[in-house]
Amino acid sequence: MSDKDKVYIFDTTMRDGEQSPGASMSVEEKIQISRVFDDMGIDIIEAGFPITSPGDFEAVTAISKGLKNSIPCGLARAKKKDIDACYESLKHAKRFRIHTFISTSPVHMKHKLKMSNDQVIDAIKESVTYAKKFTDDVEWSCEDGTRTSLDFMCKTIELAINCGATTVNIPDTVGYSIPEEFAKTITHIKNNVPNIDKAIISAHCHNDLGLAVANALAGLSAGVRQIECTINGIGERAGNAALEEIVMAIKTRNDLMPYDTGIKTELISKASKIVSNATGFPVQFNKAIVGKNAFAHESGIHQDGMLKNRETYEIMSPESVGVKQTSLVMGKHSGRHAFKDKLTDLGYSDMTDDVIQEAFGKFKVLADKKKHIYDEDIIALVDESLIVDNKINAINLKSLKVYAGTGEPQRAEMTLDVFGDIKQTTQTGDGPVDAIFKCIKELYEHEVKLSLYQVHAVTEGTDAQATVSVKIEENDRTTVGQSADTDTLVASAKAYLNALNKMLIKREKKSLSENIEHQKVKEGV
Ligand code: KIV
Ligand code: ZN
Repeated sequence: MSDKDKVYIFDTTMRDGEQSPGASMSVEEKIQISRVFDDMGIDIIEAGFPITSPGDFEAVTAISKGLKNSIPCGLARAKKKDIDACYESLKHAKRFRIHTFISTSPVHMKHKLKMSNDQVIDAIKESVTYAKKFTDDVEWSCEDGTRTSLDFMCKTIELAINCGATTVNIPDTVGYSIPEEFAKTITHIKNNVPNIDKAIISAHCHNDLGLAVANALAGLSAGVRQIECTINGIGERAGNAALEEIVMAIKTRNDLMPYDTGIKTELISKASKIVSNATGFPVQFNKAIVGKNAFAHESGIHQDGMLKNRETYEIMSPESVGVKQTSLVMGKHSGRHAFKDKLTDLGYSDMTDDVIQEAFGKFKVLADKKKHIYDEDIIALVDESLIVDNKINAINLKSLKVYAGTGEPQRAEMTLDVFGDIKQTTQTGDGPVDAIFKCIKELYEHEVKLSLYQVHAVTEGTDAQATVSVKIEENDRTTVGQSADTDTLVASAKAYLNALNKMLIKREKKSLSENIEHQKVKEGV
């Protein structure tokens, strides 16, 4: 493959993806995710929108310090203070990208920006030139590009390139385009922007009509060489083009799309799980590539065909995206060494000794309770150890007893360690989970809205571990907690506590940040 055939993969899971209503990731979770993305070979990682919150600023800073190969990127409106915040958070990386944007469609310019065409032109000139002072790698986007007149779009793109943009991104911000039209737009740009050979054309497609991936791939055939996408397709409203679908479509149909993304596709499943865990957004069962059923064959005819030759019903192998066949792995006699080898085999090669030790302890407890332990069980344990950092937990579950069944109101007896104080209560509720959550509220008084409670079985069978996700909201803050246990009610209590502990950290950070002058960021506010 030559440079001409390279398609750059620009991941925006931690920026546009985090704009999914309800999805929010902590800084620690974003760091974990960025490590997987870096290993996967993602070219550019849009780590956040630094001006929007101290949390975003902190995440972009931490990620830009840690990446080995991927280029970190931050988003900025056409404003100097946004670009300053990008620079301040990205400057730790040896190479970084500033991505600045402004709307160019009549409806956005009139109602959102209240700016004329000429004012938008001035803003592009000023913002791209300013961003260029900090880095050679500047991306410019014409927001709502697909509802912009082609003439005006070409004029703005030419200007952005003249001011130093090296990537020009065409967003289908509202997911309005269809593949044929999107390809025509790209062809028009190629034929009518005189300096277009000095920049890479990028596609950023939203999925409101379910066409995000199709539009991005249509763009590719017309000359797009960077695709912006998110893991599991998360993003504003109906989401963005799904990275796993884009990459696997190019790989599987390389006869028709002879391009190279350079992505290590075997890490796709891991990336999907870590993003789903961090956001609390489950992956639909029939989701292409990463859904639980994506490689399951149910009908007798299909199973028969598969047994004769996998190619009868399989266009790509589960192994190629990191899905391993469910396998019985280990038992209670397996040692730490075998456990560590198993983790490496499952793609967890970069874990600290602390995390391994914690996961191994949990594995031993599980092995006492559960006869068969599968790869998925181990993955759930490790993910929990990665996401739930017990060292920062202020409130921990000590014991729980639940009385449930017909006739009586359900009752929970709970002991919690609350900042070092051992506290106990008994509460009744409308169901055992309600009783458990009431206990927590009684032992640590707090007001949050429970916006999601979700249970998944990790494997099959009545002794399967359950992973419980809980999302809570308080003012403008959201946190997601997770826990896995063979006892769904214990997992529920721990998941709620995990979300609550994260909320306490967020509260603390907010009050800290209110006192800190983000000097450079605030310049010119
Ligand atoms: O959808 C969009 O237009 C965006 C831009 C900021 C690129 O996310
Ligand atoms: Zn977007």
